[in-house]
Amino acid sequence: MCGIVGYVGTREAEAILVDGLKRLEYRGYDSAGVAIEGPHGIEVVCRMGKVASLEETLSALDVEGTCGIGHTRWATHGKPSEANAHPPPSCGNEIALVHNGIVENFAELRDELEACGHVFRSQTDSEVIAHLVEDAYLQLAERAAERDALSDAQGHRRPHDEAARRAEGEPSILLQAVHAATSRLVGSFGLAVVCESEPGLIVATRKDSPLVVGMASDGAHMASDVIAMIDHTRDVCIMEDGVFAELSKDGIMFFEPAGDGLRTASPRHTHIDWDADLTEKGGYPDFMLKEIHEQPRVIRDTLAGRLVGDELTIDELSLTREELNLIDRVYIIACGTSYHAGLIAKNLIETWAQIPTEVEVASEFRYRNPIITPTTLVVAVSQSGETADTIAAIRDARIKGARVFGITNVVGSTVARESVGVIYTKANKEIAVASTKSFLGQVVSLTLLSMLLAQSKGKLTTGQIRLLFSELADTAEQVEAILADASSVEEAALACRDAKSALFVGRGMGAAVANEGALKLKEISYLHAEAYPAGEMKHGPIALIEDGFPVIAIATNSPTYEKVLSNLQECKARGALVVAVASEGDAEIRRHADHVIYVPAVRDAFSAITASVPLQLLARSIAILRGCDVDQPRNLAKSVTVE
Ligand code: G6P
Repeated sequence: MCGIVGYVGTREAEAILVDGLKRLEYRGYDSAGVAIEGPHGIEVVCRMGKVASLEETLSALDVEGTCGIGHTRWATHGKPSEANAHPPPSCGNEIALVHNGIVENFAELRDELEACGHVFRSQTDSEVIAHLVEDAYLQLAERAAERDALSDAQGHRRPHDEAARRAEGEPSILLQAVHAATSRLVGSFGLAVVCESEPGLIVATRKDSPLVVGMASDGAHMASDVIAMIDHTRDVCIMEDGVFAELSKDGIMFFEPAGDGLRTASPRHTHIDWDADLTEKGGYPDFMLKEIHEQPRVIRDTLAGRLVGDELTIDELSLTREELNLIDRVYIIACGTSYHAGLIAKNLIETWAQIPTEVEVASEFRYRNPIITPTTLVVAVSQSGETADTIAAIRDARIKGARVFGITNVVGSTVARESVGVIYTKANKEIAVASTKSFLGQVVSLTLLSMLLAQSKGKLTTGQIRLLFSELADTAEQVEAILADASSVEEAALACRDAKSALFVGRGMGAAVANEGALKLKEISYLHAEAYPAGEMKHGPIALIEDGFPVIAIATNSPTYEKVLSNLQECKARGALVVAVASEGDAEIRRHADHVIYVPAVRDAFSAITASVPLQLLARSIAILRGCDVDQPRNLAKSVTVE
């Protein structure tokens, strides 16, 4: 969750850190802080709230220095406050660090450190790391000073000769201290540490939290996500767990544990080729609207090159036709919006490939005992590829012998790296916290996977695949048509703006879509919303309905269309304000709904694609009418890298 950045080089660090933090705000925006090495030591500045407030303070202070680290926080331990903002204090204030993750054993470490005289000034779990590094640093520095004094006396290398140390591939004392301190931690961390006694150095490491480093012409950069440094360098190293990086203006050295010590490492470098423009709003008032409008492109890009002749090709699957044919159970595991994409895919896989499919929230799956055999396919769906629960779930599934396949938006992410095969959703960077274009990319990717499974099982003929693929490709144009005229969405939004609660209902595919519609609305407008299979309404939720209560129905063409109409009648009879998403050409629906949002008529299998788009627009319009920040809703973060 939190975002961390670091820079050491020839330019002033302040603006680079602030700019990087702004781009990482999607990871949390409860507070922000920086530590910059200035002429008088390390200066720490923290502010509650968004990075803009930190920026304002910094511009008044004009903090000098060419080496620094920064943090934008999503609170886990300790409420959002300046005292709990990062960098957390250590006793001597000689060490400053920023942390993304959770220290699970922080209570016992804190007791131990307090017993040794350390004084804690925040409620964060991260503060224990600062004290641990401080302790380790003092001990190692003392030992090094003794060794240096001895070498000096014997006429060997001069003490604290930095250039010689680097040329010999020796880790700095700070890096050794971070190694020692992190070996005590249980949990997850992306860390960047600076130390007053070793100016011009940043030490970075990670375990189960993303971290990227890269060298630019102006110095070394690091961040939780490449988006924070893309303006400076495109040649980056996506760090692996347990690797330590030492950044200085002259370069980046990597180390990995070897026995009790450390040896140099040579991690793989990656070139980032996506466009930095993706991080701008491009004339739209917010990222959410921009990303909603990118969806036709996402559909086209996700499908590009997938039908070669009559054959569906997903080479990245790394499973032969025969192996696919043996699959007799599918688990789709995911969180949040990605979970809802899984619910849609369950319908498709069971209908087309006739393979029993379960969709599970990752945080539940990992603590159950799911039945997994070598013929089970586990599909992990994750926009970021870094969601802690999803990663833990796929690790468990692999240990149990499942084949794990990933659907993600981020090249090189943990989900991509830990899966035997992967489909990239081609949504490109998604900035708004509420997922829209990634969701559609996931639905299209899962549709392809469902068709492939059906083809391998011989349940769909080549002709059927060709027809389905062509209709799937047509959805790009259909989504364009929906986006071209959102007037009916605006009218429905006005009718719902003052509601306290709303119900989203549908059947079959519509029930799956309803879940995502309700989530979108609640996460960005703070209006309570719940999704229910329409047929279940009379078993409870109908009791909520009174005059003007919004019921948003997915009533597109489907085998259960008539049943949905009956359910809407039951709601209308009790005074509900019915908003229906329906297929073009359906005049009947007007008798059952106060507001109708028409979408192009498509087969039921693809209705999730067309019906989801107006629901995204509806959620956004209601949120805007209610004065909410649609890109950065309160309490949320885009990437949940803690359990
Ligand atoms: C957070 C985000 C959601 C996202 C979910 C799963 O809750 O706010 O938009 O759907 O995490 O994230 P993932 O990256 O695994 O898809």
